[in-house]
Amino acid sequence: MRTKYVPILSAIAVLFVFGCNELAMCGEEEMSIKKQAYGKTKDGKNVDLYILTNTNGLKAEIMTYGGIVISLQVPDRDGNFADIVLGCDSLDEYLKGTPYFGALVGRYGNRIAKGKFTLDGVEYTLATNNGPNHLHGGIKGFDKVVWNAEPMQTDQGPALKLTYRSRDGEEGYPGNLSCIVSYTLTNNNELKINYEAETDKATVINLTHHSYFNLGGHNSGDILGHELMLNADHFTPVDKDLIPTGEIKSVKGTPMDFTRPMTIGSRIEQVAGGYDHNYVLNSSDGSLALAASVYEPKTGRVMEIFTTEPGIQFYTGNFLDGSNKGKGAVYNKHNGFCLETQHFPDSPNNPNFPSVVLKPGEKYTQLTVHRFSAR
Ligand code: BGC
Repeated sequence: MRTKYVPILSAIAVLFVFGCNELAMCGEEEMSIKKQAYGKTKDGKNVDLYILTNTNGLKAEIMTYGGIVISLQVPDRDGNFADIVLGCDSLDEYLKGTPYFGALVGRYGNRIAKGKFTLDGVEYTLATNNGPNHLHGGIKGFDKVVWNAEPMQTDQGPALKLTYRSRDGEEGYPGNLSCIVSYTLTNNNELKINYEAETDKATVINLTHHSYFNLGGHNSGDILGHELMLNADHFTPVDKDLIPTGEIKSVKGTPMDFTRPMTIGSRIEQVAGGYDHNYVLNSSDGSLALAASVYEPKTGRVMEIFTTEPGIQFYTGNFLDGSNKGKGAVYNKHNGFCLETQHFPDSPNNPNFPSVVLKPGEKYTQLTVHRFSAR
């Protein structure tokens, strides 16, 4: 009987002697949040980087400029970690401009035609930054502002609460808008993004997150071999400038159909320019529901996305052309994909799309969960 307890007692003794760090070596890490200075913007604002680590060793690096996820380390089926988001080497590289790598997007994710919309009889004109159209919040969207940050240890895992007050008239939008976006790296291996906003004047809002994922690793080439399932029977067709025509069309019998898992590359040649479309999710009652599931066969990594939003933009990095380099990699066409949970593009000009209007006294909320596993 006595000998049975010896290994247990020695294990306890080892833990006492070596402390918490050694716990990591036993396969369990301590969750943590570390902060470090990351540089300054051109107008002298300090930017900080927060490193969130959960109890399984998953790591998310998020900076206060744009709320950008700079890196996200998750394990493959053999337990090997890789950084699965495209990104840059330094703040200066981000300041030079990227195609929204890892950023928070607001006030309006995706396009508003001609940068114009009418609300309560007033026509508003927004900044145009994509030909004649408004894209991802304009010239200086939420991806290019410095957010206030508050690190938090929550029951679910380490979290970073970011806040930003967008003033009335910013990029042409009405109303002072107070936004809170919380990233939580849960101990269930999820990156959870919770959005809240309030306004003092009727406005439109559509917040989202713009990571480019490559589950094989950010530097592993194209994403065409990833298998994708989208829980969407319909999508919103677009014109040549990627503005929705207003139609809600069935995916059935078209290369847009991902209702059953298909490799991203299997029919991409049949889609002019590659995928860059908003899918109408089957669940649209505002409850948290499975929107997408992606599997990378070489590493076994899986990402499932759950959201409360009615739509998801599937974008296959069609405009990546090798001019963006980062973290030792050169990013070429289709080297990453985005799955941006959102309301539909150009909703303010399409009364048949779910409303994006936020009024004083109301609270905007959106929750999206990226769950990682491997098989
Ligand atoms: C849009 C693309 C756009 C890209 C910007 C995506 O969300 O759908 O059309 O080019 O963001 O990098």
